[in-house]
Amino acid sequence: MDLLYSLPFQGSLSMNQKRKGLSLRRLFSLVFFLAMIFLIGNAFITVDYKEGIAGWSSIIRLNLAKLKMCKTQLRPPGSETLPRGIVASTSDLEMRPLWGAKRDKKPKPSLLAMAVGIRQKESVNKIVKKFPSSEFVVMLFHYDGAVDEWKEFEWSDTAIHISVVNQTKWWFAKRFLHPDIVSAYSYIFLWDEDLGVDHFDARRYVSIIKEEKLEISQPALDPNFSEVHHQLTSRDKKSRVHRRTYKVIGRARCNENSTGPPCTGFVEMMAPVFSRAAWRCTWHMIQNDLNHGWGIDFQLGYCAQGDRTKNIGIVDSEYILHMGLPTLGGGSAENKTDSGKLDKTKTPHAADKSSSVSTGRTEVRKQTYVELETFKHRWKNAVKNDECWIDRFQT
Ligand SMILES: *[C@@H]1O[C@H](CO)[C@@H](O)[C@H](O)[C@H]1NC(C)=O
Ligand SMILES: *[C@@H]1O[C@H](CO)[C@@H](O)[C@H](O)[C@H]1NC(C)=O
Ligand SMILES: *[C@@H]1O[C@H](CO)[C@@H](O)[C@H](O)[C@H]1NC(C)=O
Ligand SMILES: *[C@@H]1O[C@H](CO)[C@@H](O)[C@H](O)[C@H]1NC(C)=O
Repeated sequence: MDLLYSLPFQGSLSMNQKRKGLSLRRLFSLVFFLAMIFLIGNAFITVDYKEGIAGWSSIIRLNLAKLKMCKTQLRPPGSETLPRGIVASTSDLEMRPLWGAKRDKKPKPSLLAMAVGIRQKESVNKIVKKFPSSEFVVMLFHYDGAVDEWKEFEWSDTAIHISVVNQTKWWFAKRFLHPDIVSAYSYIFLWDEDLGVDHFDARRYVSIIKEEKLEISQPALDPNFSEVHHQLTSRDKKSRVHRRTYKVIGRARCNENSTGPPCTGFVEMMAPVFSRAAWRCTWHMIQNDLNHGWGIDFQLGYCAQGDRTKNIGIVDSEYILHMGLPTLGGGSAENKTDSGKLDKTKTPHAADKSSSVSTGRTEVRKQTYVELETFKHRWKNAVKNDECWIDRFQT
C-alpha cells in the first residue's frame, strides 16, 4: 500500500517532503535495477552470440525443451489456446435436469442405437424392452419422419430421438455416434429394427462378451427362422460363443487354421455390438458418403484391438431372428424371397410389398453393390498409398 500510494505520478500535493524524497529514491533504485538487468541481459546475448556462453544457452535449451514438451503434449485439436483443465473433450447422452441438484444416478454403461420406422414399431418395442433402462441409453434414428407416433411407449420419453428422412443406420451412426460423444459407453449396440429377440437378454449378453473379451460381436442368428447370409453367424446350439465356422464357403474351406473372413473374424451388419475402442476405430472406417455400410463387415477385424480370430465372436446362447424385412433403415438390402420362413416369425407388416416399395428395394440393392465396389476400391487405394501402414493380417 505504502509503495503504491507513494509513487510520484500518483502522489498528492498534500504529501510531506520526507515521504516524497523516500519514494523518489525508491523509484530511482527501481529504474537503476531495471537498467542493469537490461544491460546485463544484452551483454549476455551479444556475448553468447559471438562466443557462446554455456550458461545462457543452456537456459535457452531448457526453455526450448519445455516448449517442445508442451508442443508434444497431446491436446485435442482446436483446444491448444486453452488451459488444459478446462477442456471437456468428450460428452455423453445422459439427460440432465434443468435445475436442482444432480440426481445421484449412475451413468448408463451401454448404448442401444437403432434406425427405425413406425411400421416396425411392434418389433422395435420388443427389442427396446429387452434392454433394461437402467443400463442402456436408447437412441432411435427415425428414417420416416414419425416421432410423435412413438409416444405411446413409456420408454419413449427417455429415449433420444433423431429424425432425418430416408437415411440409413450408417448415415446416422456416422453423424450422431461420434466416438467422442459416445465414449462414456462400454458397449454400443447398433441394430436394425427387424430382429426377433425372444431368445435374447441384453444383460446376460453384455456379461458374456465382457467375460469372453469380445471387442466386436453379435448374437447368433437362429438359422431356422432367419435370413443367414454368412455361415459364421448361424447359431451353434451346443456352444455359448463361437468364433469360427468349419464349413466350406464358396472357395474357402474353413478350418481351425483359417485366419479371416468368411471363416472367422467378422460379424454381419444387422446387429453388431462394439466395445468403446472398437467403435472408435469403426467410426473412422465408415465412409461419409457411403450410406449402406457395405464392405465394412469384412474389414472389422482391423478394429478388433488385436487378434480378430479371438476378439470377434458370435454369442450363441443369446440369439436372435433376422426377419429380413424390406426396411429402409436396415439397409441390409438382401434378396428376401423366402416368405414362408417369414410367416413363421409372425411379424406384422411382413407381407408389406407394394410395387413402389419393391422398385425402391431394387434401386437400393443396386446402390449397395455400387457402394461395396467403391469401398473396396478405396480400401485398396488407401493401402497402396499409405507407406506407414502395416497389414497385421497379411498371410
Ligand atoms: C423418402 O423416400 C420415399 C420413398 O422412396 C419418397 O417417396 C419420399 O419422397 C422421400 N422423402 C424425402 C424427403 O426424400
Ligand atoms: C432348427 O430346426 C431343427 C428341426 O426342427 C432343429 O433340430 C434345430 O435344433 C433347430 N435349430 C435351431 C438353431 O434352433
Ligand atoms: C492346421 O495347421 C496345422 C499346423 O500347421 C496342420 O498340422 C493341420 O493339418 C492344419 N489343419 C488343416 C485342416 O489344414
Ligand atoms: C432374388 O433371388 C431370386 C433367386 O435367387 C432371383 O430369381 C430373383 O431374380 C432375385 N430378385 C431380385 C429382385 O434380384
